[in-house]
Amino acid sequence: MSITIRAPATIANFGPGFDVFGLALEGPCDKVRVRLRGDEIRIKLSGMADGVPVNPPDNTAGLAVINFLKGIGEEGMGVDIAIKKGIRTGAGLGSSGACAAASVHALNKLFGSALTPNRLIEFAMGGEAASGVTHADNVSACSLGGFTIIKNFDPIAVEKVEVPLIPIVICTPLVHLQQRKTAATRRVIPASFSLMDAREQISACSSLVRAMLDEDLIGIGRAVNRDHISEPVRSMFIPGYWEIKGAVLKAGAYGCNISGGAPSIFAIVEKEEQGEIAELMVEGFKQRGIESEPILTKASNRGCE
Ligand code: HSE
Repeated sequence: MSITIRAPATIANFGPGFDVFGLALEGPCDKVRVRLRGDEIRIKLSGMADGVPVNPPDNTAGLAVINFLKGIGEEGMGVDIAIKKGIRTGAGLGSSGACAAASVHALNKLFGSALTPNRLIEFAMGGEAASGVTHADNVSACSLGGFTIIKNFDPIAVEKVEVPLIPIVICTPLVHLQQRKTAATRRVIPASFSLMDAREQISACSSLVRAMLDEDLIGIGRAVNRDHISEPVRSMFIPGYWEIKGAVLKAGAYGCNISGGAPSIFAIVEKEEQGEIAELMVEGFKQRGIESEPILTKASNRGCE
Protein backbone atom coordinates (compact mmCIF):
# COMPACT_ATOMS: atom_id res chain seq x y z
CA MET A 1 0.00 0.00 0.00
CA SER A 2 1.30 3.46 -0.80
CA ILE A 3 0.20 6.99 0.04
CA THR A 4 0.90 10.09 -2.04
CA ILE A 5 0.96 13.46 -0.32
CA ARG A 6 0.82 16.89 -1.94
CA ALA A 7 2.92 19.37 0.03
CA PRO A 8 2.81 23.10 -0.71
CA ALA A 9 5.60 25.67 -0.92
CA THR A 10 5.74 28.05 2.03
CA ILE A 11 7.01 31.49 2.92
CA ALA A 12 8.78 31.21 6.26
CA ASN A 13 9.41 34.13 8.61
CA PHE A 14 6.73 35.87 6.53
CA GLY A 15 8.28 39.25 7.19
CA PRO A 16 9.05 39.84 10.87
CA GLY A 17 8.27 36.36 12.30
CA PHE A 18 11.77 34.87 12.25
CA ASP A 19 11.51 31.10 12.82
CA VAL A 20 7.95 31.60 14.13
CA PHE A 21 5.58 32.56 11.28
CA GLY A 22 4.91 30.59 8.10
CA LEU A 23 2.42 30.87 5.26
CA ALA A 24 1.27 28.07 2.96
CA LEU A 25 0.94 28.85 -0.74
CA GLU A 26 -1.48 27.47 -3.30
CA GLY A 27 1.52 26.47 -5.42
CA PRO A 28 4.07 25.30 -6.36
CA CYS A 29 3.88 21.90 -4.65
CA ASP A 30 5.90 18.71 -4.20
CA LYS A 31 4.35 15.26 -4.45
CA VAL A 32 5.78 12.49 -2.29
CA ARG A 33 4.75 8.83 -2.55
CA VAL A 34 5.62 6.60 0.38
CA ARG A 35 5.39 2.81 0.50
CA LEU A 36 6.41 0.34 3.21
CA ARG A 37 8.65 -2.28 1.64
CA GLY A 38 11.66 -4.42 2.56
CA ASP A 39 14.17 -3.34 5.19
CA GLU A 40 15.86 -0.33 3.62
CA ILE A 41 14.97 3.30 3.03
CA ARG A 42 15.22 4.14 -0.69
CA ILE A 43 14.72 7.54 -2.30
CA LYS A 44 13.80 8.21 -5.92
CA LEU A 45 13.77 11.76 -7.29
CA SER A 46 12.09 13.43 -10.24
CA GLY A 47 11.14 16.96 -11.27
CA MET A 48 13.22 19.98 -10.16
CA ALA A 49 15.51 17.97 -7.92
CA ASP A 50 18.70 19.93 -8.63
CA GLY A 51 21.21 19.19 -5.82
CA VAL A 52 18.86 16.99 -3.74
CA PRO A 53 20.76 14.05 -2.18
CA VAL A 54 19.37 10.48 -2.35
CA ASN A 55 21.27 9.07 0.62
CA PRO A 56 18.48 8.89 3.27
CA PRO A 57 20.29 10.56 6.22
CA ASP A 58 21.33 13.43 3.88
CA ASN A 59 17.85 13.94 2.48
CA THR A 60 15.25 15.85 4.54
CA ALA A 61 12.50 13.33 3.73
CA GLY A 62 14.86 10.40 4.40
CA LEU A 63 15.96 11.80 7.77
CA ALA A 64 12.39 12.64 8.76
CA VAL A 65 11.40 9.02 8.00
CA ILE A 66 14.36 7.68 10.00
CA ASN A 67 13.30 9.88 12.96
CA PHE A 68 9.66 8.85 12.62
CA LEU A 69 10.41 5.11 12.54
CA LYS A 70 12.73 5.45 15.52
CA GLY A 71 10.09 7.49 17.37
CA ILE A 72 7.43 4.79 16.99
CA GLY A 73 9.81 1.90 17.65
CA GLU A 74 9.85 0.59 14.05
CA GLU A 75 13.52 1.19 13.27
CA GLY A 76 14.79 -1.04 10.46
CA MET A 77 11.53 -1.05 8.52
CA GLY A 78 11.96 -0.46 4.78
CA VAL A 79 10.36 2.56 3.09
CA ASP A 80 10.33 3.61 -0.57
CA ILE A 81 10.10 7.39 -0.96
CA ALA A 82 9.40 8.77 -4.44
CA ILE A 83 9.74 12.55 -4.51
CA LYS A 84 8.47 14.64 -7.42
CA LYS A 85 9.88 18.13 -6.93
CA GLY A 86 7.65 20.96 -8.08
CA ILE A 87 9.28 23.42 -5.67
CA ARG A 88 12.66 24.74 -6.73
CA THR A 89 15.44 23.84 -4.28
CA GLY A 90 17.45 26.56 -2.54
CA ALA A 91 14.90 29.23 -3.42
CA GLY A 92 13.70 30.02 0.10
CA LEU A 93 10.30 28.49 -0.62
CA GLY A 94 10.36 25.63 1.85
CA SER A 95 11.44 22.97 -0.63
CA SER A 96 13.37 20.87 1.90
CA GLY A 97 10.59 21.22 4.47
CA ALA A 98 7.90 20.13 2.01
CA CYS A 99 9.58 16.74 1.41
CA ALA A 100 10.10 16.20 5.13
CA ALA A 101 6.53 17.15 6.04
CA ALA A 102 5.01 15.08 3.23
CA SER A 103 6.93 11.93 4.09
CA VAL A 104 5.95 11.93 7.78
CA HIS A 105 2.32 12.70 6.94
CA ALA A 106 2.29 9.74 4.56
CA LEU A 107 3.90 7.42 7.10
CA ASN A 108 1.43 8.53 9.75
CA LYS A 109 -1.44 7.54 7.45
CA LEU A 110 0.17 4.18 6.73
CA PHE A 111 0.52 3.57 10.48
CA GLY A 112 -3.11 4.44 11.30
CA SER A 113 -2.88 8.22 11.89
CA ALA A 114 -1.88 7.83 15.53
CA LEU A 115 0.37 10.90 15.86
CA THR A 116 -0.73 14.48 16.56
CA PRO A 117 -0.01 17.31 14.11
CA ASN A 118 2.55 18.80 16.55
CA ARG A 119 4.40 15.46 16.79
CA LEU A 120 4.50 15.20 12.97
CA ILE A 121 5.85 18.74 12.75
CA GLU A 122 8.54 17.77 15.26
CA PHE A 123 9.64 14.78 13.13
CA ALA A 124 9.56 16.87 9.94
CA MET A 125 11.60 19.61 11.64
CA GLY A 126 14.16 16.97 12.64
CA GLY A 127 14.36 16.05 8.94
CA GLU A 128 15.26 19.65 8.10
CA ALA A 129 18.60 19.01 9.87
CA ALA A 130 19.70 17.19 6.68
CA SER A 131 19.69 20.55 4.89
CA GLY A 132 21.93 22.08 7.57
CA VAL A 133 19.40 24.04 9.63
CA THR A 134 16.66 22.84 11.97
CA HIS A 135 13.67 25.18 12.00
CA ALA A 136 9.95 24.50 12.24
CA ASP A 137 8.33 27.44 10.43
CA ASN A 138 8.30 25.94 6.91
CA VAL A 139 7.23 22.45 8.00
CA SER A 140 4.45 23.92 10.19
CA ALA A 141 2.84 25.95 7.40
CA CYS A 142 3.35 23.10 4.94
CA SER A 143 1.75 20.55 7.28
CA LEU A 144 -1.27 22.57 8.38
CA GLY A 145 -1.79 25.16 5.64
CA GLY A 146 -2.78 28.75 6.35
CA PHE A 147 -0.74 31.13 8.49
CA THR A 148 1.07 29.28 11.27
CA ILE A 149 2.52 30.55 14.50
CA ILE A 150 4.95 28.53 16.59
CA LYS A 151 3.62 29.13 20.08
CA ASN A 152 6.20 26.96 21.82
CA PHE A 153 9.50 25.44 20.76
CA ASP A 154 10.08 22.69 23.30
CA PRO A 155 7.86 20.82 22.85
CA ILE A 156 6.70 22.18 19.50
CA ALA A 157 3.19 23.65 19.60
CA VAL A 158 1.79 25.27 16.47
CA GLU A 159 -1.34 27.35 15.95
CA LYS A 160 -2.97 27.66 12.52
CA VAL A 161 -4.83 30.81 11.55
CA GLU A 162 -7.14 30.52 8.52
CA VAL A 163 -6.12 33.11 5.96
CA PRO A 164 -7.80 35.11 3.23
CA LEU A 165 -6.52 34.08 -0.22
CA ILE A 166 -3.86 36.82 -0.26
CA PRO A 167 -2.54 37.37 -3.82
CA ILE A 168 1.24 36.95 -3.79
CA VAL A 169 3.97 37.45 -6.37
CA ILE A 170 7.26 35.65 -5.90
CA CYS A 171 10.41 36.13 -7.93
CA THR A 172 13.38 33.79 -7.64
CA PRO A 173 16.70 35.03 -9.02
CA LEU A 174 18.50 32.04 -10.49
CA VAL A 175 21.83 32.62 -8.76
CA HIS A 176 24.21 29.71 -8.09
CA LEU A 177 22.96 27.10 -5.60
CA GLN A 178 25.88 27.70 -3.20
CA GLN A 179 24.82 31.36 -2.90
CA ARG A 180 21.33 30.39 -1.87
CA LYS A 181 21.77 27.80 0.86
CA THR A 182 19.68 28.72 3.91
CA ALA A 183 22.48 27.58 6.22
CA ALA A 184 24.89 30.06 4.58
CA THR A 185 22.57 33.08 4.64
CA ARG A 186 21.47 32.29 8.19
CA ARG A 187 24.97 32.11 9.63
CA VAL A 188 25.40 35.84 9.05
CA ILE A 189 22.39 36.88 11.15
CA PRO A 190 23.62 38.45 14.42
CA ALA A 191 23.01 36.50 17.63
CA SER A 192 21.71 39.51 19.56
CA PHE A 193 19.78 42.71 18.86
CA SER A 194 19.25 46.09 20.47
CA LEU A 195 16.27 46.75 22.69
CA MET A 196 14.89 49.20 20.11
CA ASP A 197 15.10 46.58 17.34
CA ALA A 198 13.36 44.05 19.58
CA ARG A 199 10.60 46.58 20.30
CA GLU A 200 10.11 47.29 16.60
CA GLN A 201 10.06 43.54 15.78
CA ILE A 202 7.44 42.80 18.46
CA SER A 203 5.31 45.64 17.10
CA ALA A 204 5.58 44.33 13.51
CA CYS A 205 4.71 40.74 14.55
CA SER A 206 1.72 41.90 16.60
CA SER A 207 0.49 44.06 13.71
CA LEU A 208 0.77 41.13 11.32
CA VAL A 209 -1.28 38.80 13.53
CA ARG A 210 -3.97 41.48 13.98
CA ALA A 211 -4.09 42.14 10.22
CA MET A 212 -4.34 38.39 9.48
CA LEU A 213 -7.25 38.02 11.88
CA ASP A 214 -8.93 41.07 10.32
CA GLU A 215 -8.20 39.78 6.78
CA ASP A 216 -6.76 43.25 6.13
CA LEU A 217 -4.59 43.00 3.01
CA ILE A 218 -3.06 46.48 3.38
CA GLY A 219 -2.25 45.83 7.05
CA ILE A 220 -0.69 42.44 6.17
CA GLY A 221 1.47 44.14 3.53
CA ARG A 222 2.61 46.92 5.86
CA ALA A 223 3.56 44.46 8.57
CA VAL A 224 5.53 42.10 6.30
CA ASN A 225 7.56 45.09 5.15
CA ARG A 226 9.12 45.44 8.59
CA ASP A 227 11.92 43.14 9.67
CA HIS A 228 15.11 43.78 11.64
CA ILE A 229 16.35 40.21 11.86
CA SER A 230 16.53 38.47 8.48
CA GLU A 231 16.00 41.14 5.80
CA PRO A 232 18.96 43.43 6.66
CA VAL A 233 21.35 40.46 6.34
CA ARG A 234 19.73 38.31 3.63
CA SER A 235 19.29 41.34 1.36
CA MET A 236 23.08 41.30 0.90
CA PHE A 237 22.72 37.99 -0.96
CA ILE A 238 20.17 39.40 -3.42
CA PRO A 239 21.59 41.77 -6.06
CA GLY A 240 19.48 44.94 -6.32
CA TYR A 241 17.14 43.90 -3.51
CA TRP A 242 16.43 47.34 -2.03
CA GLU A 243 15.95 48.98 -5.46
CA ILE A 244 13.57 46.20 -6.54
CA LYS A 245 11.62 46.40 -3.27
CA GLY A 246 11.37 50.19 -3.67
CA ALA A 247 10.07 49.89 -7.24
CA VAL A 248 7.54 47.22 -6.27
CA LEU A 249 6.12 49.30 -3.40
CA LYS A 250 6.02 52.41 -5.58
CA ALA A 251 4.02 50.45 -8.17
CA GLY A 252 1.35 49.70 -5.56
CA ALA A 253 2.34 46.50 -3.76
CA TYR A 254 1.32 46.61 -0.09
CA GLY A 255 4.38 44.82 1.19
CA CYS A 256 7.56 43.13 0.01
CA ASN A 257 10.21 41.04 1.74
CA ILE A 258 12.52 38.05 1.40
CA SER A 259 11.10 34.53 1.52
CA GLY A 260 12.74 32.25 4.09
CA GLY A 261 16.48 31.85 3.69
CA ALA A 262 16.49 33.81 0.36
CA PRO A 263 16.97 34.56 -2.50
CA SER A 264 13.25 34.68 -3.51
CA ILE A 265 11.46 37.98 -3.05
CA PHE A 266 7.71 38.05 -2.40
CA ALA A 267 5.15 40.84 -2.55
CA ILE A 268 1.59 41.24 -1.26
CA VAL A 269 -0.52 42.79 -4.02
CA GLU A 270 -4.01 43.20 -5.40
CA LYS A 271 -4.88 40.35 -7.80
CA GLU A 272 -5.09 42.60 -10.86
CA GLU A 273 -1.56 43.91 -10.18
CA GLN A 274 0.17 40.55 -9.95
CA GLY A 275 1.36 40.54 -13.58
CA GLU A 276 2.76 44.08 -13.48
CA ILE A 277 4.61 43.53 -10.19
CA ALA A 278 6.06 40.25 -11.47
CA GLU A 279 7.37 42.03 -14.58
CA LEU A 280 8.97 44.73 -12.43
CA MET A 281 10.80 42.13 -10.36
CA VAL A 282 12.01 40.18 -13.39
CA GLU A 283 13.15 43.42 -15.05
CA GLY A 284 14.97 44.48 -11.86
CA PHE A 285 17.04 41.30 -11.89
CA LYS A 286 17.50 41.43 -15.67
CA GLN A 287 19.07 44.89 -15.38
CA ARG A 288 21.64 43.26 -13.11
CA GLY A 289 22.30 40.46 -15.59
CA ILE A 290 20.37 37.87 -13.57
CA GLU A 291 17.70 35.57 -14.94
CA SER A 292 14.77 35.03 -12.62
CA GLU A 293 11.57 33.03 -12.36
CA PRO A 294 8.29 34.74 -11.41
CA ILE A 295 5.46 32.86 -9.68
CA LEU A 296 1.93 34.24 -9.39
CA THR A 297 0.21 32.50 -6.51
CA LYS A 298 -1.86 33.10 -3.39
CA ALA A 299 -2.04 32.09 0.25
CA SER A 300 -3.80 28.81 0.88
CA ASN A 301 -5.44 27.07 3.82
CA ARG A 302 -4.47 23.65 2.44
CA GLY A 303 -1.47 21.93 3.96
CA CYS A 304 -0.22 18.35 3.38
CA GLU A 305 -3.02 16.36 1.72
N1 HSE B 1 13.25 30.60 9.55
C1 HSE B 1 14.17 30.03 8.59
C2 HSE B 1 15.28 31.03 8.38
C3 HSE B 1 13.42 29.78 7.32
O1 HSE B 1 15.00 32.21 8.28
O2 HSE B 1 16.44 30.62 8.30
C4 HSE B 1 14.25 29.22 6.21
O3 HSE B 1 13.40 28.89 5.12
